[in-house]
Amino acid sequence: MRNLLILIILSFMTGCVSCLEVEGCSGGTVIFTCKYPDNYQSNDKYFCKESTQSCEEKIKSGMKNTWENKDRFSLCDTNRKLFTVIIRKLEKSDEGNYKCEVATSDPSSGHVTIVELKVKEDDCFKKSVKETAYLGRNATITCKYPEDHENRTKYFCKQDDRFICKDNITLESEKISNKHGRLFVSDNRRERVFTVTFTNLTVEDTGVYWCGGKTHVYTTLITEVELAVNAPPKTTMVTTMSPASSSRSPPSPLNSTSVVTIVSVSLGGLVFAAFLVIVYSCKRNKQKGSFFLTHTHTHTPVEAAEGRTAHNNGQNSQNIQ
Ligand SMILES: *[C@@H]1O[C@H](CO)[C@@H](O)[C@H](O)[C@H]1NC(C)=O
Ligand SMILES: *[C@@H]1O[C@H](CO)[C@@H](O)[C@H](O)[C@H]1NC(C)=O
Ligand SMILES: *[C@@H]1O[C@H](CO)[C@@H](O)[C@H](O)[C@H]1NC(C)=O
Ligand SMILES: *[C@@H]1O[C@H](CO)[C@@H](O)[C@H](O)[C@H]1NC(C)=O
Repeated sequence: MRNLLILIILSFMTGCVSCLEVEGCSGGTVIFTCKYPDNYQSNDKYFCKESTQSCEEKIKSGMKNTWENKDRFSLCDTNRKLFTVIIRKLEKSDEGNYKCEVATSDPSSGHVTIVELKVKEDDCFKKSVKETAYLGRNATITCKYPEDHENRTKYFCKQDDRFICKDNITLESEKISNKHGRLFVSDNRRERVFTVTFTNLTVEDTGVYWCGGKTHVYTTLITEVELAVNAPPKTTMVTTMSPASSSRSPPSPLNSTSVVTIVSVSLGGLVFAAFLVIVYSCKRNKQKGSFFLTHTHTHTPVEAAEGRTAHNNGQNSQNIQ
């Protein structure tokens, strides 16, 4: 027992029990798994970033075999003595040391994996690509990759609505691989281009895909590909008609409301002016008979309104004091 404790303390002193070196591209994603020993299946798992004071929690496990998402981090704990961590939209400031931790009641007996994350900014090529293709036809997606990916297994996957990569395809050599007879992937290592061809496109192929590479430690996703599958451009009538009618309809209610506003504002002003004139003329008539006729042009409704507003303001400020 004592020896075990010394061993654990020693291993902490030497830096890490086990270390992972992970490298991603800025704007991209990294995926890696942290192992933990037997008997820790039911414990909570944490992923945190080391800083001078403490390890800042980034994400924590939830239910078994379920993805937990928090900001740009995802974590899934499996029953297979490992949990997977995903960091998305990598930034240079994400670089540093992280810990995959298994929570225990006795912190000294916890199991920790140190993860050293590097984020490359250069040599990462296009971060995102948009492709539009047509139903029943083919689409070819090409992804350039950095030099250090040259001899790596290439990786292609579709992102689901919770940002998790599914339906992944890996290509270990340059030869063409064919998945479900419909998807062809190839890798030209000399030109550092990875190509994916979809044949006979369906509506379900629409979505966000990622191209990347895979080492035995981690997977890095470099280029995001947004694929849109549209109906073939045969029915030009329908496609040109609908945007025109939809773009025409929104301004008309806007116009009519602004007309209504202008009309009601000016009507209101007129009524108010007429009211002022009547009040004024009544007063004048009472005092000086026909005098009001010669004075109407000097005392315009605007002046009257301004006078009223100023007066109101004065009242308001008095009320506040
Ligand atoms: C689509 O790709 C497949 C496989 O490469 C090819 O046999 C087929 O002729 C292509 N179809 C079109 C319409 O380009
Ligand atoms: C990839 O493999 C080739 C042939 O073995 C080698 O010449 C090249 O240097 C390797 N590239 C990298 C980036 O390791
Ligand atoms: C790739 O797909 C396989 C089988 O569907 C799955 O076991 C594996 O975890 C996936 N890998 C990644 C990195 O998503
Ligand atoms: C394309 O897909 C449709 C629907 O999945 C299928 O009916 C059709 O036979 C396919 N065509 C080819 C050439 O594979």
